[in-house]
Amino acid sequence: MDHPLSWPLGLDSLAYGGDYNPEQWPEEVWREDVRLMRQAGVTMVSVGIFSWALLEIERGMYNFGWLDRLLDLLDENGIRADLGTPTVVPPAWFYREHPEALPVNREGIRYEFGGRGAICHSSPAYQDAALSITEKLARRYATHPALALWHVHNEYGVPVSACYCETSAAHFRRWLTDRYRTLPELNSAWGTAFWGQRYVQWQDVRPPRLTPTAGNPAQQLDWARFTNDAILDNFKRERDMLHRLSPGIPVTTNFMTALSQCESLDYWAWGREVDIVSNDHYLVAEAERNHVNLAMSADLTRAVAGGRPWLLLEHSTSAVNWQHRNIAKRPGELARNSMAHVARGSEGAMFFQWRASRFGAEKFHSAMLPHAGTESRIWREVVSLGADLGSLGSVRGSRVKADAAILWDWQSWWAQKLEWRPSTDLDPRERADTWYAAAYDHHLTVDFAHPEADLGEYPLVLVPALYLMTEASSRNLARYVRNGGTLVVSCFSGIVDSHDTVPPGPHPGALRDVLGLTVEEFAPLRAGEQVLLAGEGQQLTGDVWSEFVVPRGADTVWSYVDGPAAGHPAITRHPLGYGSAWYVSSRLSARDVGAVLTRACSDAGLIERRLPHDVEVVERVGATNHYLFAINHSSTDAVVPLPSPGTELLTGAPVTDELTVPAGATRVVRHA
Ligand code: GLA
Repeated sequence: MDHPLSWPLGLDSLAYGGDYNPEQWPEEVWREDVRLMRQAGVTMVSVGIFSWALLEIERGMYNFGWLDRLLDLLDENGIRADLGTPTVVPPAWFYREHPEALPVNREGIRYEFGGRGAICHSSPAYQDAALSITEKLARRYATHPALALWHVHNEYGVPVSACYCETSAAHFRRWLTDRYRTLPELNSAWGTAFWGQRYVQWQDVRPPRLTPTAGNPAQQLDWARFTNDAILDNFKRERDMLHRLSPGIPVTTNFMTALSQCESLDYWAWGREVDIVSNDHYLVAEAERNHVNLAMSADLTRAVAGGRPWLLLEHSTSAVNWQHRNIAKRPGELARNSMAHVARGSEGAMFFQWRASRFGAEKFHSAMLPHAGTESRIWREVVSLGADLGSLGSVRGSRVKADAAILWDWQSWWAQKLEWRPSTDLDPRERADTWYAAAYDHHLTVDFAHPEADLGEYPLVLVPALYLMTEASSRNLARYVRNGGTLVVSCFSGIVDSHDTVPPGPHPGALRDVLGLTVEEFAPLRAGEQVLLAGEGQQLTGDVWSEFVVPRGADTVWSYVDGPAAGHPAITRHPLGYGSAWYVSSRLSARDVGAVLTRACSDAGLIERRLPHDVEVVERVGATNHYLFAINHSSTDAVVPLPSPGTELLTGAPVTDELTVPAGATRVVRHA
């Protein structure tokens, strides 16, 4: 373990359990709960996350008795507690006193109390009240024997992140003053010479509220940064209080790294501030092959954790309740999902939630203990997963071995998703998903990396969407290629700087030299229009985007056969220093991105694993052992070659040079 707070105190196995909301049940049910938790092999539960109104009934009037009894009961049964600070739902009395702490949306409408997360993060009243209940909890439970981990707030950033009220406006101006010092600096960074927006007094600078036409993109981008920072400051206040009053207990807050519902936080910054990175992941239930998105979420979370082990704090045993059609998981899917997270670095598998709610907005959400009770498939699968995870304790602390990296930058997405881009069909998140799927189907294990991170350890780096690039990231990629790396870049990358400003000269300003080309003009396609690309004896199909690429050192590998750029280069390769840089100027499907990947892998000297489709193989490397996870998402049995003999941990069977993984099953081999 690399630092003392990197693991829930006293937890001596993988974490297994879920959100536990016993306040929704009479206390006699709690005894049955802990009995069943023991039966299922539960090791830790998350409690108190939404309990502020029950703990502080009116300002300064506390009722901790029920939480005392609950934590004692957990302790008596050997179950560790991940204790929430309940600051995601201030009580009704708080809003009675401080209606101004309810957030205001971009249109100027104030939200009401009654859901959750209705918080203006710039509100001093909210900050004080949140710190006060956090302090009370920390003082009371710092030394409670059940306490293993602090769980601050819940899913910062949703359901609302920004508040556009006057208090937030003043806070935004303070943030801008720190960043730009003077108004001329701000005017220059925001390009206020455009459409007569020039400011002469700070008081005129406001949040980017609803405007009749497209708002200033640089202002909106800074607003997104400010919002992230304001929320992060509130997390840090609670964390610092907990560190001070409850030393030795790690602090986490549950991220949602790859959920498209939460793109308002820059988790690169957040990952540095928590003791343990934890994540919530929910399948897009209707998507075919949604295990690919799961893998991406896990890989991204590991990257945010700096490669350290992390913890899956929530996923679902079966259906959720908040998608359009909440498809139930099929038999075995619960185990495969959990094991895939563990394979990719999670030190356990936790769920929302332990016992299904009878009332409230989430009563149709699945749980470890469903409404159907213990005579149910879900319960049997929960018990069986608990036993399987129980046999994997030794993987703790081991690290995932990756073949390649994908660059990922929330700030670039914030910029690209603003109004008035050349084509709204070109979506950065879709590109990241598709390129990730291409890597997944090549059986490459990928890390994600920030564009300014050291990439030297990766033979191959993919850039599916990096519209905004800083000078530092531009230099970083050039250094990477010159030193022998293989870089593959997708269209509409390297277009603007950190103020959403196009650098002088032709696109792509930040990547011209490394890619050995310029782009004379973008040529987005009509809805449904496709273009053919020919090269390498292989035809590929693009849609949404094409452009006029002018090679300036790069070689053309595929050319456009038809469409606006017919006859012009479509996919190029630029030998540079000891490496090479590929450029893909159209939007390709995962299959066709795969054709480029095959070429790039050979440049990078990566030997692709020969494995059946949808058999996921990931390795974790520990101090003394290697662990090979093989998860068979397909409906036929698969055979996976093994690097050396070992022991299959779920069955206890010895294995030699190959491993049979039955359809739908997971196997974990420990090699010496
Ligand atoms: C999120 C929340 C939980 C619950 C689940 C339902 O992850 O953190 O409280 O609402 O969603 O899927």
